[in-house]
Amino acid sequence: MVKIAPSILSADFSKLGEHVKRVEKGGAEFLHIDVMDGNFVPNISFGFPIMKAIRPLTDMVFDVHLMIEEPSRYIDEFVNAGADIITIHYEAERHLDRAIEYIKSKGVKVGVSLNPGTSTTLLKNVIKKLDMVLIMSVNPGFGGQKFIDYSLDKIKEIKEMARECGNNDLLIEVDGGIGKDNIKDVVLAGANVVVAGSAVFKEEKIEENIKGLREALA
Ligand code: DX5
Ligand code: ZN
Repeated sequence: MVKIAPSILSADFSKLGEHVKRVEKGGAEFLHIDVMDGNFVPNISFGFPIMKAIRPLTDMVFDVHLMIEEPSRYIDEFVNAGADIITIHYEAERHLDRAIEYIKSKGVKVGVSLNPGTSTTLLKNVIKKLDMVLIMSVNPGFGGQKFIDYSLDKIKEIKEMARECGNNDLLIEVDGGIGKDNIKDVVLAGANVVVAGSAVFKEEKIEENIKGLREALA
């Protein structure tokens, strides 16, 4: 079953608590939390205090996407703030294997994300250790960008790599530029977790928009 992961980056932050509850009511399983440091990406979003504040409001899986340099410095804080899955960027962490092991040792799931220009082959040696691979289908930093088409090939490559190494439970998440028109394509390529920011929060019709995405999958 495909999971929908609304990205709160596109929520109205003045109503964040209400929007989080509406996302859950709309039937989303994951809440995608985009953390940006103004260094790894040219934008700053929010950090663990915000996560802590919304954690008591919902049982959804907190899917934390760290777009920060050297994310291993902050793993403890994100675990304490209620993360269920912590995804770090391949490009942001020099000691990737050590960071993966550290996140696992904290009892949360671990993901690694690839920017559009980063080859899937770079995950060959670590993919069997991972709970999730996050394929960025836009250059990270902002919501509302256009889907990069070659991401579909990368999803297929990761699916094949997971199969080859026997990681049958791997979550393959895709993030950026996904809406009703292309959600089915990413799922047919092999994604089982789909992030949607602007497509979910558009016109504040949150529940309706999530339903529309599910219908587009049918
Ligand atoms: C981009 C973020 C995405 C973004 C997706 O850096 O990682 O999660 O919020 O937004 P949409 O769905 O609008 O492209
Ligand atoms: Zn994201």
